[in-house]
Amino acid sequence: MPDKKTYYITTPIYYPSGNMHIGHTYTTVAADTMTRFKKMQGYDTYFLTGLDEHGQKIEKKAQEAGVTPQEYVDMIAVETKALWKLMDIENDDFIRTTEERHMKIVQKIFKQFYDQGDIYKSEYEGMYCTPCESFWTPTQLVDKDGEKVCPDCGRPCQPMKEESYFFRMSKYQDWLIDYIETHPDFIQPASRANEMLTNFLRPGLQDLCVSRTSFKWGVPVDFDDKHVVYVWIDALSNYITALGYGTDHDELFQKYWPADVHLVGKEIVRFHTIYWPIMLHALGLPLPKQVFGHGWLLFGADKMSKSKGNVVYPGPIVERYGVDSLRYYLMREMPFGADGNYTNESFLTRANADLANDLGNLVSRTVAMIEKYFDGLVPAWDESAVDKELDAPLHEHCAALPKLVEEQMNKLQFSQALVEIWKVIGECNKYIDATQPWVLGRDPEKQGRLGNVLLTLAECIRFVAVLIGPVMPHTPARIFEQLGVTDPMLMTWESLDSFGRLPAGTKVCKGEALFPRLDVKKELEALAPKKEEKKPEPAPKKEEKKEPKKVEIPEGCVSIDEFFRCKLRVAKVLSCEAVKKSDKLLKFELDLGNGERRVILSGIHKFYEPEQLLGRNLVIIANLPPRKMMGIESNGMILSAVEKKEDGSEYLRVLTVDGDIAPGSEVG
Ligand code: ME8
Repeated sequence: MPDKKTYYITTPIYYPSGNMHIGHTYTTVAADTMTRFKKMQGYDTYFLTGLDEHGQKIEKKAQEAGVTPQEYVDMIAVETKALWKLMDIENDDFIRTTEERHMKIVQKIFKQFYDQGDIYKSEYEGMYCTPCESFWTPTQLVDKDGEKVCPDCGRPCQPMKEESYFFRMSKYQDWLIDYIETHPDFIQPASRANEMLTNFLRPGLQDLCVSRTSFKWGVPVDFDDKHVVYVWIDALSNYITALGYGTDHDELFQKYWPADVHLVGKEIVRFHTIYWPIMLHALGLPLPKQVFGHGWLLFGADKMSKSKGNVVYPGPIVERYGVDSLRYYLMREMPFGADGNYTNESFLTRANADLANDLGNLVSRTVAMIEKYFDGLVPAWDESAVDKELDAPLHEHCAALPKLVEEQMNKLQFSQALVEIWKVIGECNKYIDATQPWVLGRDPEKQGRLGNVLLTLAECIRFVAVLIGPVMPHTPARIFEQLGVTDPMLMTWESLDSFGRLPAGTKVCKGEALFPRLDVKKELEALAPKKEEKKPEPAPKKEEKKEPKKVEIPEGCVSIDEFFRCKLRVAKVLSCEAVKKSDKLLKFELDLGNGERRVILSGIHKFYEPEQLLGRNLVIIANLPPRKMMGIESNGMILSAVEKKEDGSEYLRVLTVDGDIAPGSEVG
C-alpha cells in the first residue's frame, strides 16, 4: 500500500499576554476545519498550534499579576487548551516556546546562523513599540496627530539603542524576490505577495535585529549570555522544533515538512513570507508550500486585539448556542482573506436564517413527511414515477457538490464552500415547493412520485451532513440520527461518489429541532454586557404643532392617513401547524425582523398544508387588536386573495412579495 498523502497545517503561536479571544479562535477553527476536511479525504494530517511565551510584554504582564513569567504563561496555557477543547479543536500538538524541546533547538539554530556568517553583532538604534515588541524604521512609522506611531497598533514608539545580533537578510533578498515571483501559490491571497514585493523586498531588505539585552525572558544565546534570542527566530522556529527538527528523533519532521500551509493573520504575513523563508533557506530546508494571510475580525473599525482590550470571548456564545453555531458563523461570515465585523446581531441573524430556517427546516420537514406518508421508512426509488425536469437538476447538482466544495476548500475559501452547500439546501427547499409532497400525499396513485421526492430529499440531506462535518463536528451525527443512517460507510466522503446510496427502508426518527430559532431581541439583551445605570432620557423638544390642512374625502374612499393607520408588514413564516380540533385554522409563527415574532391564526387550512408555507414571506396587518381563537391568541391577519368561482366555491392564495426582502419591511 502506498503511504497516505500528508498534510501539515499550522496556526500562529499566540502570545499569552491575555486569554485568547474570538480572533485567535477564528484562525484556530479555520485550521481545524481544514484538517478535518483533509482527514475526511484520507490524508495523514498534522495540525500544530501553541503559544509564543517569551518577550518583554509577558515579563511585564507577569509582574503586574505578581507572579513569575513562567507561572503567568502556565496559567494562560491551561486556559488556552481549555478553550480549544471547548471549540472542538483537534490539534496534534501544542508547542510552547518555553519548553526545553524548543529552546534547545532555537539555540542550535542561532549558533548555526552565527557560525555560517548569517548573524553578526552590532548596535541597534531605532523606534520601538513595546506592546507590539517591534522595532520600526522611520519610514514604517505612521503619522498620527503630528506624532510618529506604530503602524500596527497606533501607539507612540520610543527611541531605543542597544547592542544586538543581526541577521543578514539583505544577502537573501534577490533569491527571495525570485522565489516569490516563480511560486505564485506561496503567498496567498496573491495581493499580499504584491504587498511584500512592493513594500519590503524591492525597496531593499534591512538586516533584522535578532537578540536583546534589555530583558531576560527569552531563549538565552548560549555563546553570549548578555543576550536573549529576540522574538522572530524563537517564534518562527516552532513550526519545525515541534516536529523534532535538529534532534535524533526527527521522524515527524521527515514525514511532514515542508508544511502545506501556515495560516496567519495579515499583520504577520511579512514575518512568515520574508524572515521565515530566509531562515529556512539559510538552514538548507525547503519552504512551506503556502502562507495564507487571512483578514481581521474587527470591532467597529478596529482590529480586535488583546492590547486594545476590545475583544469578544467565545465562551459565553458557545455555552448559549453550541460550538457548531459559532464555528459555522466564523467560517461563513466573511471570505477568508477579507476583514469582517463581529457582532452578536450578525451571529444571531445568521444562526436563524442559515441554521434554524434553511438547514433545520429542511431536515425536520423531510423527516416529518417520511413519518407521515411512509410510516417513517425511507421509500424506494420508483423508476416509473420520475419527473426528469424536477428531479434531474437536483440530483446532478447534489452529485457535483463534493467537487465544488473540494475546490473551494483547497483554496481555503471556507465561506464559499459553505455557500455551495447552502445552495443545495436552498434548492431542496425549492424542490419541496415545486413538487408539493402534501398534494401528492392526498392521491394514493401518486405514492411512487411522493416516494421519489422524499428519497431525493433524504439523500441530499445525507450529502449535506457529510460535507458540513469539518466545519460543524457535532451536527452530522444529529442529522444521521434523525435520518436513521447508522452505517458508518454512508457517513464518509467516499460514499458521496454517487448520488442514491441511501437504502430504502432506512427508519427515520424525528428528533429535537437541530437549531432552535432564536429570539434575536431577547438574545441580544442576554449577551449584552451588564449596563450601567440608565441615564434619564432627555425630554423631547416640544415642536410647534401645525394644524393639518383639511382635505375633503369623497364617499366610499379612505384618506391616505386612514390607509397608513393600517400597518402592513412582510412576515416570514418560521413555523406553521394545524390547530388541533380545527378543520380550518393554521397557526403561524412569524418573523417580523429585529427579533420580533408573532403568532397569527388563519383559517386557510383548506387551501394550504402547513409545510407549504414554511420560509415564505407573507403580508400581514400587524396592528389589529389581539383575538382569541380555539384558546390561542392571534395577533394580526395574513392577507390573501380569494377567487369566487361560478359554482359558488372559493379559491384562496396568500399574498407574498416579489423577491427576497427582509422580514418586517413595511408594505404601503
Ligand atoms: O502575532 N482577527 O501572536 P498574537 C483575526 N505570537 N485574527 C486574529 C485577530 C483578529 N482580530 N486577533 C488575533 C502573534 N488573531 C505572534 C505570532 S507566529 C510564529 C507568532 C489571530 O497573539 C491571527 O491569526 O498577536 C493573528 O495573526 C494571530 O492571532 C496573532 O496572535
